[in-house]
Amino acid sequence: MMNKMMNETLRTITERYSCRAYDGRLPEKEKLERIAVAAVQSPSAINRQPWLVNIITDKDLIDEMDAEGMRILAQAEDKAVYERFMERGGRLFYNAPCMFLVLKQPGTDLDCGIVCENIALAATALGLGNVICGMAAIPLSGENAETFKQKSGFPDGYEFGMSVLVGNAVGSGTPHEPDISKIHWIG
Ligand SMILES: Cc1cc2nc3c(=O)[nH]c(=O)nc-3n(C[C@H](O)[C@H](O)[C@H](O)COP(=O)(O)O)c2cc1C
Repeated sequence: MMNKMMNETLRTITERYSCRAYDGRLPEKEKLERIAVAAVQSPSAINRQPWLVNIITDKDLIDEMDAEGMRILAQAEDKAVYERFMERGGRLFYNAPCMFLVLKQPGTDLDCGIVCENIALAATALGLGNVICGMAAIPLSGENAETFKQKSGFPDGYEFGMSVLVGNAVGSGTPHEPDISKIHWIG
């Protein structure tokens, strides 16, 4: 029954996983454009569309933000997060060549989250690795935050929502096993 119901959309959902290794090469512009349209096709409360989607394809800027984030984590009192990233290769953004930076108006986290999932699924459907990346908040909130906000195009009235890294995956990953014990039928 479950397999009979499978289609392209559901297959994409089952195939998505968080990719944490990229080859650093920028994917074709057409693919990034298609993902961007999927992002702004997301539903939002009262169709307010309280977001901006800034697509950073300047790898030097992404690498600069990566280094700044790692520097901040290295200085933190609790080194657990820093050590976890060092174990994963020492890169906050895994050598990704593209960051979809989702900016939001205050109080619209849910709308912003939906945009991120559309980006992740569109990237997966186009064969690109992707990971929703909250760690992008770190370089955007440290002592050099204003510089990075300016470089990544924050206008007044918008704050960091979330980021999604996109690129060509190195190797493959495994989607997490869905925990069906979380599903409850009432009635
Ligand atoms: C709001 C949010 C923030 C996340 N931030 C990060 C992050 O900064 N770095 C990272 O490697 N993964 C991040 N993830 C990915 C999760 O770790 C991942 O979705 C989870 O472990 C499940 O694995 P899967 O995506 O492969 O199914 C984030 C996911 C969400 C939804």
